[in-house]
Amino acid sequence: MSADMPRHVLLLLSGPNLNLLGTRQPEIYGTDTLQDHVDAARRAAIERDWDLEHRQSNHEGDLVDAVHAAIGRVEAIVINPGALTHYGWSLHDALAAFGGPIVELHLSEPRKRERWRHLSVVEPLASARVAGEGGAGYPRAVALAIEAATGAGSAAG
Ligand code: DQA
Repeated sequence: MSADMPRHVLLLLSGPNLNLLGTRQPEIYGTDTLQDHVDAARRAAIERDWDLEHRQSNHEGDLVDAVHAAIGRVEAIVINPGALTHYGWSLHDALAAFGGPIVELHLSEPRKRERWRHLSVVEPLASARVAGEGGAGYPRAVALAIEAATGAGSAAG
C-alpha cells in the first residue's frame, strides 16, 4: 500500500471482565493479559497492512457506542463480547447495523461449558467464529475478518 492511501481499520472489541485476563480464572482463560492478546491481534493486522483499534468496556452501552462510531469508518470488527455474548441483545442490534464483517471470538469454547453459555446473540451476525483456541485465536480472528473484508483468501493484503 502506498503512503498516501488510507489504511484499512479493524476494530477489536472486548466485553466485560476481559480487563482482568491474566489473573481471572487462569485455568480457563490462561495467564496472558488482555494487552498481550491485543498486541498479537495488532501484529496480525499490521502484517496485512491494516490498523487495529481496541476498546474494552464492562458496560454494554459503551460497546454499543463503539459499534455506532465504527459504522462507515471501520471495515471489520472482531469481538469477544464476554458474557454479553449470551444475552447482550442491544449489542446484537448495534452489530446488525454495522454492515461489515464481524468475527466472534472467545478464548474458551462456551459450547463446552455451562448451558447458559451455549446461546450466542452474536453468532447469527458473524461471518466466522473462533473459540477454544486460547490466545492463538486473536491473530486468527483478525486474519479471518480481514479476509472477509477484502473478499480474498489468506494471501490477501
Ligand atoms: C468468553 C466466554 C464467555 O462465556 C465468558 O463470559 C467470558 C469470556 C471467552 O473468551 O471464552 O467472559 O467470551
